[in-house]
Amino acid sequence: MSTQLITSIESMQSISRQWRQAGLRIAFVPTMGNLHAGHLRLVEQAKKNADRLVVSIFVNPLQFGPNEDLDLYPRTLDADMAKLKVLAVDVVFAPDESKFYKKEKNMTTFVEVPGLSDTLCGASRPRHFRGVTTVVNKLFNIVQPDVAVFGTKDYQQFAIIQQMVSDLAMPIILQGVDTVREKDGLAMSSRNAYLSEVQRALAPRLYINLQIMRERVIFGELNYESLIRQTREQLSDEGFKVDYLEIRDATNLSREATKSDKWVILTAVWLGETRLIDNILL
Ligand code: PAJ
Repeated sequence: MSTQLITSIESMQSISRQWRQAGLRIAFVPTMGNLHAGHLRLVEQAKKNADRLVVSIFVNPLQFGPNEDLDLYPRTLDADMAKLKVLAVDVVFAPDESKFYKKEKNMTTFVEVPGLSDTLCGASRPRHFRGVTTVVNKLFNIVQPDVAVFGTKDYQQFAIIQQMVSDLAMPIILQGVDTVREKDGLAMSSRNAYLSEVQRALAPRLYINLQIMRERVIFGELNYESLIRQTREQLSDEGFKVDYLEIRDATNLSREATKSDKWVILTAVWLGETRLIDNILL
């Protein structure tokens, strides 16, 4: 079967309805397009779980702040379609912005996950996660997936979506896929394209510093506060502007340990005008 491009909400809903009536299992990968190998890994994972595979491409204005890169964000639908055809995706759902949010300016319904959304990236990007949860909820309603796949590169985003699905009893199984990296360790991201040559050469140092932190913990460093302080200094000496660098409980992102005793180091930094995020499990 060839890959179909669908732009209308109604057509997508009608296809999903037919599939579900036929007893077919639908897997879904939401994206903002400009697809790289990280996105494609998600698609491959999704394929393992289902009879039908939908990928959405939508640069969601609701999750961009007023001074963020909404206009600059790369839109490469033709190239994306070609990549998804190779992976035998059944439907690419790429709605038109004006039709997706008919009354965006006075839109009244939002889906919010307070608490988890207000910390880390949410502290520097107010309302960002409200935009994410609102669009993901709406996409779920349109695509009606059985399984949805997300990257843990956006660790906080995945935690928030898990919380939303659980709190609202959505009948969807979520799967997380590990971060796909460039050969030099830089986490793949559409925003890497904004980096100058000099910044691109520096960028892999971010993950290297996270790995050094992890090694120090493995070798017995217990003073997380001083470890964070030292790494922050190191990163700024190297030319990064650190937005946050924190060690949090891996299950609920709280500062205090829970029973699981699994920790994650999360960071966001600026390289010039470009914001990079990364994380590493301890
Ligand atoms: P986008 O940044 O396009 O990412 C789409 C999905 O790809 C997300 O689940 C993200 O975590 C995953 N991803 C991105 N880079 C990755 C990498 N290097 N390795 C593995 N997975 C990676 O995240 C969004 O879009 C949006 O917020 C969205 C969920 C689509 C809502 O608008």
